[in-house]
Amino acid sequence: MEAEKLMFWRSVNLMLNSMLYEIIKSRRSVRTYDGRMVSREVLSRIFEAARWAPSAHNAQPWRFIVVYEDSIKKRLAKAMADVWLEDLRKNGVSESEALKIVEEESMRRFTESPVLIIVGLTMRDMHKYPDERRMRAEYIMAVQSVAAAVQNMLLAIHVEGLGACWVCAPLFCQEIVKKTLKLPEDFEPQAILTLGYPVGECNPPSRKPLSEIVWVLTSEKGELTAWRI
Ligand SMILES: Cc1cc2nc3c(=O)[nH]c(=O)nc-3n(C[C@H](O)[C@H](O)[C@H](O)COP(=O)(O)O)c2cc1C
Repeated sequence: MEAEKLMFWRSVNLMLNSMLYEIIKSRRSVRTYDGRMVSREVLSRIFEAARWAPSAHNAQPWRFIVVYEDSIKKRLAKAMADVWLEDLRKNGVSESEALKIVEEESMRRFTESPVLIIVGLTMRDMHKYPDERRMRAEYIMAVQSVAAAVQNMLLAIHVEGLGACWVCAPLFCQEIVKKTLKLPEDFEPQAILTLGYPVGECNPPSRKPLSEIVWVLTSEKGELTAWRI
């Protein structure tokens, strides 16, 4: 009986393992949604996944602000689009092309997403140092911790049958985002997640092979050998 139980739990474990890898691999950045709203229960589970991410000093420097209101989404999208438009003009992109890019990749994306999650970072509970070198390391740790939380959320979003896209636009206009949304002083915008029920299937973008991203350090002289399975 004991042996049977053990066999059963071993096979459950094996199944869970392969499910985890499958979930990681099948998650996609989703950029088109149908109009269905996302319930608070589902959002709570997604934030719960964020809460359990690892963080430096367990400081949990992530903060999230949910936006449902169309009028707020529009105001935010317009404010960020204006900054992007100005940057595109500086790059010498023609006015008509710049307007098209901003309309399609910014205004539409944000206003047509049923939910926006503004991802922020706070340094409130990170360590404080008198020198720039250590403060920079602390800041990077906070950024890395926030990114870990976002990845947990993206996986939770995927298993909930939802789709999301991690959008970095706020990084290019952090003060504008803060001012437009009247965010707390210590909330530093890092990203926006657009979120909703996906429309259509997305093909997986290619990935670099392991041999291009993993090496074994094979000698004291710093020789590297590409990873082989
Ligand atoms: C830090 C970060 C910033 C990103 N910014 C954007 C963005 O601004 N717009 C966008 O459409 N996708 C953005 N993405 C999504 C990537 O384009 C996407 O993850 C990548 O192409 C791989 O596709 P996949 O997520 O479907 O595997 C971002 C992803 C990360 C991690």
